[in-house]
Formats: sequence, structure tokens, C-alpha cells
Amino acid sequence: MNKTYAIIGCLSILAAGSLAGCGLTGSVRARADAAKVTFGVAVQPGDVLDPGTKKFIARNFNLIVPENTMKWKLLRPTKAFWNWSDMDKLVDFAEENGIAMKGHTFVWHQQNPPYVDGLKNRDEAAALLTEQITTVMTRYRGRIREYDVANEVLNEDGSMRNTVWLRTIGPEYLDIAFRTAREADPGARLILNDYNNEYAGQAKADAFYELVKALKGRGVPIDGVGLQLHLMAKYPLNGDALKKTIARFRDLGLFVSFSEVDVRIELPVTAEKEAAQAAIYEGLLGIAKSEAGAGNFVLWGYTDAKSWIPAAFAGYGSALPFDREGKPKPVFKSMGKILSTR
Ligand code: G3I
Repeated sequence: MNKTYAIIGCLSILAAGSLAGCGLTGSVRARADAAKVTFGVAVQPGDVLDPGTKKFIARNFNLIVPENTMKWKLLRPTKAFWNWSDMDKLVDFAEENGIAMKGHTFVWHQQNPPYVDGLKNRDEAAALLTEQITTVMTRYRGRIREYDVANEVLNEDGSMRNTVWLRTIGPEYLDIAFRTAREADPGARLILNDYNNEYAGQAKADAFYELVKALKGRGVPIDGVGLQLHLMAKYPLNGDALKKTIARFRDLGLFVSFSEVDVRIELPVTAEKEAAQAAIYEGLLGIAKSEAGAGNFVLWGYTDAKSWIPAAFAGYGSALPFDREGKPKPVFKSMGKILSTR
């Protein structure tokens, strides 16, 4: 076979989820399972309506997380109306395919409906937050493995972000949220998620660690932390600082999830920039696979066609391992290889 056709054959086999045509055996998901790595992806409701995409997800990933569906504004746009149908479809799909499900997210400062952003007093806010968490986690009890209970609660300097929850309840809104979540589904793993918190020694990462340590110290039920890892290809991965972060959370008895991974490229894409991007993806997955207490690697989407990056960062794109046509980039093959090595 000519080399070009061999590569195309290999890539289309990868898209279908198997590595056999690339000299490797088993689907990417099977390799992740064997390596005991949670290899997840953020999805949208339409993904589980399309037969091809359903198959693709089920063959490549062993965890899904709704990119937006569970956020307050989408799940409960008015106080009286719960839009369960999209969430139910995702949970059903995960269950039917033996895929773990993650919930994202209860406490956030974005994508809240007006009746949440407009909360004025402590009792009302605490009651509404408690009701939201209890209602969702009771409905899906035993079916959703873990939840980002709270998301992005810190500013860059490490102070608490000025949100409706901080203003109405005070910093103990976190205690309320995590305790309520534990009560609603005692089997679910509870996570505090944030960004720019991956490198020990940086202000926000250190403050994030101190916050989590303090929560643990006062008995708040938290099981893990999320490092979102929305990275840029032009800044190489600092594996040592990342490993320090993992180690200090491990010492607190917490697991670390790489929870929203993507690596954006400053356009135009060049071979050099793609190589830098690949090095970051490979480095991260290698660390997720080898470091005790890590083991969770979740892509924030799979295809550039639906990535949040171009809308949020002008001049950047090509952040995910599948291109705009849904074809795998070479980096996806490397990721499959990393999952398959002992
Ligand atoms: O729901 C409306 C729809 O009614 C309207 O017609 C449409 C028109 O643009 O917008 C829809 O809302 C969009 C929403 O996603 C749901 O699809 C928003 O415009 C859009 O800004 C929003 O973006 C999401 C963003 O969170 C919201 O802040 C991204 O898809 C999602 O990837 C992103 O994810 C966050 C994580 O939750 C937390 N960490 C950072 C990450 C990136 O911002």
C-alpha cells in the first residue's frame, strides 16, 4: 500500500475507534479501560441523537460530561420549569453504553437565569441552591458518577470570586453545596473545578490548594479537584509543577481530574505549532496515566467544529484532536498509543 493510503486507512480506522489498522489492537476506549484511565469527553445533546456520533463516542471514550446541558440556565430556565429531556438523554446514553457520567455544574457565575443572578438574601439563596442540588442528584442517584459541585470560585489573585453566592451567602456557600451534594447522593464523587490552577507555585494554584485544604480540614465532603487545562500550544507543559499539584492533592486524599482539556493554536496552524500542541496533549495524558491520584483526562469536546475556542479567543483555533470535518489529527493516534503502553 502506498504510504498516503496507509495513513488515511489508519486515520479512518481511528475515527471508528479502533487502532488495529495502525498496528495497535483494541478501541481507544478499551485501551483506556485497560490502562485504568478515565478518558472522557464533553458532549452536547445532539451528539447522542446522531447514530454515527453515538457510535464514535461509545468506542472512544469511557466518560461523558455535558458541556452545557446541566448548567442552571439550560436545565432550569425558569424557577418552575425543569428541562430534563436533554439531561435524561445523556444519562440514558451513558448507561446504555456502560460509560461513566459526570455532572457539570451547580455553582457557577455564568449561565445562570435571572432568578438566580437576582437573588438578594441569604436564606433564599441557600434554599434555592440546596433545592437545585438535591433535585438533580436525587433524580440521577447512582447514575452519575461524579459532579463538579462548584466551578471557578476564585479570582486570578486567589481571592474568592464576587458571585451571587458569595454576595448572598458568604464563603460558606461551598460548605452548603458540598454537604447537600453528599446527602443527596452519598455514592457520587464531589469535585471543585477551576482553571489556571494546575501549576504549584503560581498564585491561583496555591490559593486553590489552600481553599481545598481548608474545606477538607473542616470536614466538608470533597473527593477531588478539577484542573480544567484550557492550554495554549505556544506555552510548553510544565510537567514538574503539574506533578507537584497532583502530589499535594493526593496527600490530602483527593483525586485530580484533568477536567476540560483543550490546547488552542494561534492561527494559522503550522506543522511546528501542531507538534507543540501534540507534545502538550501527550505530556498531559502520560501524566494522567502514570501519576497516582490522577487518571482522569477529559477533552472539552472532540471536534474543532463545535469547540468553544474560536468564539472565545479571536485568532485561535484547532484546539481539539479531531478537525472540523470530524477527522482525527495525528495527535489522536499518539494518544491512543500512550493509552496502550504499559
Ligand atoms: O442557549 C443559548 C441559545 O438559546 C442561543 O440561541 C445561542 C445563541 O448563541 O446561545 C446559547 O447559549 C450558548 C451556550 O454555550 C449553550 O450552547 C452561549 O451563547 C455560549 O456562550 C455558551 O458557551 C459555553 C460556555 O461554557 C458558557 O460560558 C461553551 O459552549 C462551553 O464550552 C463553556 O464551557 C466552560 C465550562 O463550562 C467551564 N469552564 C470553562 C469552559 C469554557 O468557557
